[in-house]
Amino acid sequence: MRSHLTTALPLLAATPLASAQINKWAQAAGLKYFGAATDTPGQRERAGLEAAYPQYDAILADNDMFGSTTPTNGQKWLFVEPEQGVFNFTEGDITADLAAEQGKILRCHALVWHSQLAPWVEATEWTPETLTEAITLHVQTVAEHYKGQCYAWDVVNEALNEDGTWRESVFYEVLGEDYIKLAFRVASEADPEAKLYYNDYNLERPGAKVNGALRIVEMLQEDGIRIDGVGMQAHFTAGGAPSLDEQIEVIESYAALGVEVALTELDVRLETLPPTEETLALQKEDYKNAVAACAQVDACVGVTVWDFYDPFSWVPYTFEGEGAALLWFEDFTVHPAYNGVIAALKNATGLCASKAKRGMAQLFNA
Ligand SMILES: *[C@@H]1O[C@H](CO)[C@@H](O)[C@H](O)[C@H]1NC(C)=O
Ligand SMILES: *[C@@H]1O[C@H](CO)[C@@H](O)[C@H](O)[C@H]1NC(C)=O
Repeated sequence: MRSHLTTALPLLAATPLASAQINKWAQAAGLKYFGAATDTPGQRERAGLEAAYPQYDAILADNDMFGSTTPTNGQKWLFVEPEQGVFNFTEGDITADLAAEQGKILRCHALVWHSQLAPWVEATEWTPETLTEAITLHVQTVAEHYKGQCYAWDVVNEALNEDGTWRESVFYEVLGEDYIKLAFRVASEADPEAKLYYNDYNLERPGAKVNGALRIVEMLQEDGIRIDGVGMQAHFTAGGAPSLDEQIEVIESYAALGVEVALTELDVRLETLPPTEETLALQKEDYKNAVAACAQVDACVGVTVWDFYDPFSWVPYTFEGEGAALLWFEDFTVHPAYNGVIAALKNATGLCASKAKRGMAQLFNA
């Protein structure tokens, strides 16, 4: 098993960066991609770091580092349909165009979500009929606009409470669980090629919420509606992530229903700042286990980190006093977790699973 690893090393050592690149190793481990979400310059502005953009853009542009991307914000309802029936793809297109120019896989995110929703959706007095029309128009128009560009769509995002019951969103209040069926049915017709995902957080450890996600997959399948994947967002706190075995068990439970799986928004935030050797070591372990779990189960196709550069992370804006959740510090040095990710991927190239064999073939035929 180890011989695979040593033969691969000289090839990777010839690359321009001192450290091995992540997507290169992800492919060697048999994954389709290792990607990074990214925001548009307009949305990054709040970090006040324009001078960092060229170095940031160069890292993202390297397909050996990140083979996939997704717009952190630009395809959300708030941006694409800010007024009823008025569509604006400016923000979403920036990342979609970047993916096309650079030859990256594009994950598209997200069609129906209760948060970052255009205010008119919650302000309107709906009947089941009018909301059905509004969801249909939204999903159809957005999915058709990006048709052919999305490897996958997060069709419905965060429909579950922590105990596995349905979240009381405007969509659920008016339509019940039928809104989920509607969104997947319309997305499936609008973009037959894109993989259609249910995406949520806290879907990485066995329990009530995971059972809720399994219920969604089964509900759609029983109605003959296409669902292709479950997205585990994987927003963790350092020292608080599920174990490797728990994550493998959960991925296998989704796979048992015949869907693929991806880690869609991976980050591991430190609950106290500044970072210490100890908190960074906990973070490294959590990144390593998450990536290892995906790399070890055939059904898990890829990993996306929710941006890669700490100043552009959502974390400090949402969890006061927390941060340093990504793989690059503000000065562009890498976190110890970077090496945890590489270690997990390298370890998986040594596996004798069919996925790893495919991966090694990909590496040497490149
Ligand atoms: C569309 O969105 C962009 C970016 O947010 C904005 O600059 C532009 O004014 C919007 N266009 C319209 C017609 O509202
Ligand atoms: C490393 O690979 C072995 C199989 O070769 C596996 O049992 C183990 O869980 C892996 N460890 C990590 C952290 O990926």
